[in-house]
Amino acid sequence: MSEVTKKEAKSGTKNGVSEKTTGAFEFDLKESGVAFLTLDVRGEKVNILSSKVLQELDGLLDDIAARSDIKALVFISGKQDNFIAGAEINEIKDVTDPEEGAQKARQGQALFQKIYDLPFPVIAAIQGACVGGGLELALACHFRIARIHPKTKIGLPEVKLGILPGFGGTQRLPRLIGIQRSLRLILTGKLVDAAMAGRLGIVDKVLPIDHHGFMKAEAEEFANVVIQKFKRHAYENRRNAKRLHAIFLESNSFGRKFIFDQTRKQTLRSTKGHYPAPLKALEAVQRGVGKSLREGLEIEAKLLGELIASDVSKNLISIFQLTEELKKDPGVDKAKSEPAEIKNVNLLGAGVMGGGIAQLLAFNDFSVRMKDINQEALDIGLNRAEKVFQQAVDKHKLGRSDMMRKMTLISGTTDYSGFSVSDFVIEAIVENLEVKQKVFAELEAEVNNKTILASNTSSLSITDIASAVKKPERVIGFHFFNPVHRMPLLEIIRGDKTSDETTITAVAFAKKLGKLPIVVKNSPGFLVNRILGPYINEGAVLLEEGATIEEIDKAMLDFGMPMGPLNLLDEVGIDVGYKVGQILYAAFGERTTPSAVIEKMHNAGRLGKKGGKGFYIYEGKSKRIDPEVYNLLSHENHSGKFSVEDLQKRLVFTMLKEAALCLEEEIVRRPRDVDTGLIYGIGFPPFRGGLLRYADSLGAKKCLATFEELAKQVGARFEPPKSIAEMAEKGQRFYQER
Ligand code: NAI
Repeated sequence: MSEVTKKEAKSGTKNGVSEKTTGAFEFDLKESGVAFLTLDVRGEKVNILSSKVLQELDGLLDDIAARSDIKALVFISGKQDNFIAGAEINEIKDVTDPEEGAQKARQGQALFQKIYDLPFPVIAAIQGACVGGGLELALACHFRIARIHPKTKIGLPEVKLGILPGFGGTQRLPRLIGIQRSLRLILTGKLVDAAMAGRLGIVDKVLPIDHHGFMKAEAEEFANVVIQKFKRHAYENRRNAKRLHAIFLESNSFGRKFIFDQTRKQTLRSTKGHYPAPLKALEAVQRGVGKSLREGLEIEAKLLGELIASDVSKNLISIFQLTEELKKDPGVDKAKSEPAEIKNVNLLGAGVMGGGIAQLLAFNDFSVRMKDINQEALDIGLNRAEKVFQQAVDKHKLGRSDMMRKMTLISGTTDYSGFSVSDFVIEAIVENLEVKQKVFAELEAEVNNKTILASNTSSLSITDIASAVKKPERVIGFHFFNPVHRMPLLEIIRGDKTSDETTITAVAFAKKLGKLPIVVKNSPGFLVNRILGPYINEGAVLLEEGATIEEIDKAMLDFGMPMGPLNLLDEVGIDVGYKVGQILYAAFGERTTPSAVIEKMHNAGRLGKKGGKGFYIYEGKSKRIDPEVYNLLSHENHSGKFSVEDLQKRLVFTMLKEAALCLEEEIVRRPRDVDTGLIYGIGFPPFRGGLLRYADSLGAKKCLATFEELAKQVGARFEPPKSIAEMAEKGQRFYQER
C-alpha cells in the first residue's frame, strides 16, 4: 500500500471503505496495518444498533473483507463511556409475528458472522457499557479487551425485557466460557465489570483504569501482538483449547443434563412461571450443545421470535420505556427553569429514615449534616448509616476505603450550625403535624433565602406543613420508602403553593441520588399509600368474610405480587397500617371504611413483623400463619369459600379504582406515573406491565362490567369510576398506543 492510499484511507475520503464513513462508523487504517472501525452514533449519548447502523456495518464489512492491506481490525467506540448499549428495542416492540421476530435475529446473526469470517483477527476494544447486541458483536470478534472503568458493564440483559440474546449470544457465550458461567449471565441478565469479565474468560485482556482515554493506542498494541503471535489457524486452536478446559461436569452428557435440570428447576422457582424468557434462553443454550454454530443460531432465532411476539415481552419493554421516559421528565410539564445546583444538604432527624437518608446522600458523595435532639439520637442515625455501608462492603459493592471516606461526609449536630449554607434540607422527624410545623418555622429562620425545605412525611399534608413558613413555595414532600438504599421510588409531593422551580430542583436532586421520582399532588396517602391502603384493607375485609389468610395472600402471590395484602400489612406494621387506614377513611369516607380486622389486631397489640406477631408469627428468618388470629377475630374461616379468581378480582379492582380516581383527580399527571409508582414502590408484577396497562389488556368494557358486578355483589365501594365508564363508551384505553 502506498503512502497516498494510506493517507486517503486515514482521511476517509476516497477508497471503497472510507466513502461510507458519513454514517455512524468511521474507518481508519494505521501504518501498522491495524484498522479501526469506530462507532459513534451521532446525536445520541450511547451507541444503539439500529437497523440503519447494522445496514451501514454490513456494507462496510463487505468492503473491508475485500481489502488486502488490513492485518487486523479493531472495533472501538467513539464515545468515552459507552461501547454499545444494545440493539434498538423500538424495532421489535410492535412485532407480533414470531417469524418476523426470528427473521430479525437471522439478519443480525448473519451480519455478525461476517465479522467472524473476516480473514484477519478482529478485536473488540471495550470501554463503557457493552451489553446485549453490543456484547454479541464483541463475541463475534476473535478477541476482546476491556478497560476497567466505572461505566464498563458487560453482559446480556435481554431476559429483563422478556427476550433472549438473539444475535448469537446464547450460542457464542457458552462456546467461549462454558455452560454454567454463561447461564448465570444469560438467565439473570446480570452485568459484570471488566475485571470479572476477564476472570470469566469473556475478555482476553483487562486494561487498567485510565482517565485519559488512550484506548486506541493500547488496542493497536494488542492488535500488533495478535498479528505477530497468531496466525488464523493458531487462534482458532487457542479458542478450541479453551473449550476443552471446560469444567468437568460440562464435559459429559450426564453432567450437562444435571446442570440443565437443576437450572431449569431453579429458574421455575424464581420466575414462578410468569417469565418465559429465562426458560427459552436455557432451552436455546441446551439445544445448541453439540450442534454446529449454524444450527445453534437457528434454534436461537426461532426461540427469540416466539419471545418477541409474547405479551410478557411487550409489557417488560413498555416498563423499560416508561422508566426511561420518567428519568428524562423534569417533573413539571413545560418546565421554564433549570434545576438549582445542590451541594450542601442538611437533615433533621437521625432515626430509621434519617440514618438511611444520610447513608444515601453520602453514598452519592453529598456531604450531609444531620441534626437531632441529642447525641444518643444522632448515634442511632450514624450507626444505621454505617450498617448499610457495611452491608455494601460485605457484598463487594464498595471498597472499605471508599466506605471510610464516604462515612466522613456525614456529620452530626444538635443545633442549627451549618444550616445557613444549606441548599436542601430533608426533614425526617416524628410524624406529628404540630411538631413538624414548629420545626419548619424554626428552620426557616436558620436557612438562607433559597434553601429548599423538604419533608419525608409519609402521611401528613405538605400544604399544612408549609403553612407554618413564610415562603411555602419552597416546601415540598420528599417521600422515601423504607429501606431507603434499596427502594428505587421517591414520591415528590407538591403542596398547594409549591413552586415549579422547587419541584424541578427536587426532581433533579432525587435523580442524582439514583432514585426514580414521581411527582404527586398533595392529597391523603399521596399516590402509593392511597392505592396500597384500600388494597390491604380489602384483604382484611376478605378475611372478615371468611376467606383464609393463606388463600388471600396466595391469591396475590399467584397474581405475581411479591407478597399478599396481609403479609404486607405485617411488613408495614399493623400500627402504621391502622393509622393510614384512619387517614384515608377521614379523607375518602365510606369506600375506605377500615376493616374491623385491622382494628382488632391493632387493639390486641399485634404490630406485625417488627413485633414478632401479626397475621403471621415470625421466628428468626421464618414465618408461619398464626392460627390464633382466627380465635382473636372470632371468625369461622373456611378454605374454598372464595375462588382464587374472586379474591384476585376484588383485590386488583380495589387498586384499579383508586388508581383511576387518582388520574381523574390529577394526583399524578399520567398513567405512566401510576404504573411505575406501583412497580417500583410496591412491586406490582412487572410482567403485567403495570396496573393500568393490565387494565388495558382486559379492555375498558370488561373492567366496567367487572366493577358493576362487584358493586352489585360486594358493595358500593366498587361503583365504577367515571373515567372507566367513559373509556368503555368511547373505546379508549389508558395508554392510547401500545
Ligand atoms: P424515628 O422515630 O425513627 O426518628 C425520628 C427522629 O427524629 C428521632 O431520632 C427523633 O429524636 C428526631 N426528632 C424528633 N424531633 C426532632 C426535632 N425537633 N429536631 C430534630 N430531630 C428530632 O422515625 P422514622 O421512622 O425515621 O420517621 C421519620 C419520618 O419519616 C416520619 O415523618 C415518617 O412518617 C417518615 N417516614 C417513615 C417511614 C418508615 O418506614 N419508617 C417511611 C417513609 C417516611
